[in-house]
Amino acid sequence: MMFEMKPEYYTGIDFIDQEHARLFELAQETHDLLNNDILQNKADSLVHLISELINYTRTHFSHEEEYQESIGYERLPEHAAQHRKFEDKLMEFDLDSIENDFESQNETVEELLGFLVNWLINHILKVDMLYVNQ
Ligand code: FEO
Repeated sequence: MMFEMKPEYYTGIDFIDQEHARLFELAQETHDLLNNDILQNKADSLVHLISELINYTRTHFSHEEEYQESIGYERLPEHAAQHRKFEDKLMEFDLDSIENDFESQNETVEELLGFLVNWLINHILKVDMLYVNQ
């Protein structure tokens, strides 16, 4: 497994950690899809993965923002703004324009993976930890 929760990723808040673990799973699925040389057409898997990510992130972000509100986290507006940026970025993956061309599908999967890795490293490990350790 390339993407898995390491000790430094745990916030100690159970439901947050479970949701982050799901995000790692989705990054692993994206990585596996990129490296899948057997599948001739990745369009269906890609659409499924992006849809799942859009749904998942909405749920996670709203849970996390509710939690931050409950503890009176002062930097909630900035944090929520980052969440909105992630959501916007995900919506930019245009599901209808995913072509049947193998190369362009792989480029999209690669772009999605880069986006997720950046998120796992920069957001969960740094920005999320700010409310955990406030
Ligand atoms: Fe766990 Fe702020 O995302």
